[in-house]
Amino acid sequence: MDLKDISYAQSTALVTGGSSGIGRAIATELIARGVRQIVIVAQDAEKLEHAAFEMRQSSDSVDVRTLSIDLSKHDSPAEVQRQIESWGWQVDILVNDAGIARKQKFAMNKENDISLLTVDLMVRAVIDLSLRFLPPMVERGYGGILNVCSTACYNPVPFTAMYAASKAFMLSWSQAVREENHDTGVRVACIVPGVTQTNLDGDGHGERRGLLDAVGIDQPEDVAKAAVDALEDNAAQSIVGANNKLLQMAQGLLPDAVKARLISKARGAPEESDNVSAKHS
Ligand SMILES: NC(=O)c1ccc[n+]([C@@H]2O[C@H](COP(=O)([O-])OP(=O)(O)OC[C@H]3O[C@@H](n4cnc5c(N)ncnc54)[C@H](OP(=O)(O)O)[C@@H]3O)[C@@H](O)[C@H]2O)c1
Repeated sequence: MDLKDISYAQSTALVTGGSSGIGRAIATELIARGVRQIVIVAQDAEKLEHAAFEMRQSSDSVDVRTLSIDLSKHDSPAEVQRQIESWGWQVDILVNDAGIARKQKFAMNKENDISLLTVDLMVRAVIDLSLRFLPPMVERGYGGILNVCSTACYNPVPFTAMYAASKAFMLSWSQAVREENHDTGVRVACIVPGVTQTNLDGDGHGERRGLLDAVGIDQPEDVAKAAVDALEDNAAQSIVGANNKLLQMAQGLLPDAVKARLISKARGAPEESDNVSAKHS
């Protein structure tokens, strides 16, 4: 089945992590392209409402709803589905964006280690939401999943090991499911941003690459345009920007163990205080 053009005005979008950074910019870009029903999901209700308020200002015809929920909790995806269905909405565009990153040495402070939180949010919730919303898209022969990956997916990244591993997982899974659906009319696209100016690390910086930040830091709005283009193109993996593409080509020539050593040196080990940020409850 050929892919139909995305009919934004007839599509309902669900954007996880839609309250800030790249997710918020993607939600705004979807509205700019004509989406009239959109739900943004994140934990902080105030940030969500603020983002939704600005999105409503940007269009006369959009209905923006918010769901304040911790997607790392195992029953949250079911609750998200229940809420959306209670409004009589069906999801045509699912954007898997929500994420966290903290610099930590794996297992050095078990109580505050965010490895399992990372898996629950950036692997489990992505799969659970996709399990819920992909089959109805396939039934309708229309819709798309946009997975927000990262150039970290190509490398072992010491001190954010689970973050990079979750993105490697996402890239592999996304491409396989895209192929499985090539004749269903449903898109499964993957956008691969480099470092982007957001609050991902909790202090106003995107992914930290140390010296490699010299490769360039993108703005969320530019990443969002590339992301929605990637969805339209059903891109298997679309790396944002020539700078990031070149870096990945160069790094791709190196063995993984060498990359891990170089990245470790470029980023440096975490401070003691870095091991006490987010806690898995
Ligand atoms: N910034 C970069 O350099 C960069 C580069 C490549 C890829 N990315 C990817 O881009 C995505 C978005 O990150 P960002 O850079 O835009 O960071 P951000 O501004 O911190 O956005 C993260 C979003 O995820 C939400 N979130 C975090 N934990 C959550 C949870 N447990 N349940 C529900 N929502 C949760 C946050 O809201 P709450 O905190 O209120 O929950 C926020 O809306 C991530 O997947 C990240 O890996 C970022």
